[in-house]
Amino acid sequence: MSRTPYIAANWKMNKTVAEAAQFIDTLLPRIAATQSDVVVCPPFTALAAVVERRYGTAVKVAAQNMHEEESGAFTGEISAPMLVELDVEAVVLGHSERRQFFGETDEALARKVPAALAADLEPILCVGESEEARDGGETEAVLERQLQTDLAGVDPVALSRVVIAYEPIWAIGTGRVATPEQAQEACACIRDVVRLRGAAADQIRILYGGSVKPGNAAEILSQPDVDGALVGGAALDPEDFAAIVEAAG
Ligand code: PGA
Repeated sequence: MSRTPYIAANWKMNKTVAEAAQFIDTLLPRIAATQSDVVVCPPFTALAAVVERRYGTAVKVAAQNMHEEESGAFTGEISAPMLVELDVEAVVLGHSERRQFFGETDEALARKVPAALAADLEPILCVGESEEARDGGETEAVLERQLQTDLAGVDPVALSRVVIAYEPIWAIGTGRVATPEQAQEACACIRDVVRLRGAAADQIRILYGGSVKPGNAAEILSQPDVDGALVGGAALDPEDFAAIVEAAG
């Protein structure tokens, strides 16, 4: 089964509104011919500007986090209806930096993923093992545990609308990229877990993230179970990001 490649730019805490606008204006002509899904994940403050500039193009916009409640006393948080109102289509959930620095738990994700789906936002759920877990041979167990908890409240039909990103923590922002074999193995493991949940596992897009660059993207993306990439550092430069989109074919 052929799945449409999915290439996402995770800007993290980078780019002002002016910088975001400039990036999009440079990127759009470079990717005009792509058949892939191209997704840009700006910080909250630049969401509206990116949404406005990408109208009429294939670019989708994702937020980097979301609270599971629709409104309430949650200072500093943003809800799904607020994102939907802006015409945002997707949301990154469970990025390892949120798990590591902001106390994001699998239990919270078990509430956030269904909340995003209910609001018609496409969740991009991130999972991945630490270096110690990989060295200890626990990669598959960690992925399975994260997926089982994070997706516990999602029924098999809705599950096919979730995008899953395999992001080994040891490869994020380190320049240390997983080998194509490691990426393939982990993404295949994720697909198996999803299949066991009764979902249409062949439809689900599974991405690799962690030091993806123009020079290594093609080889990683050629793996049968790797359907795309979640790109951090290299997605800050529109030329580099466009080259990665191109590598997806
Ligand atoms: P990186 O980040 O490409 O800079 O390693 C990836 C990510 O955190 O999504």
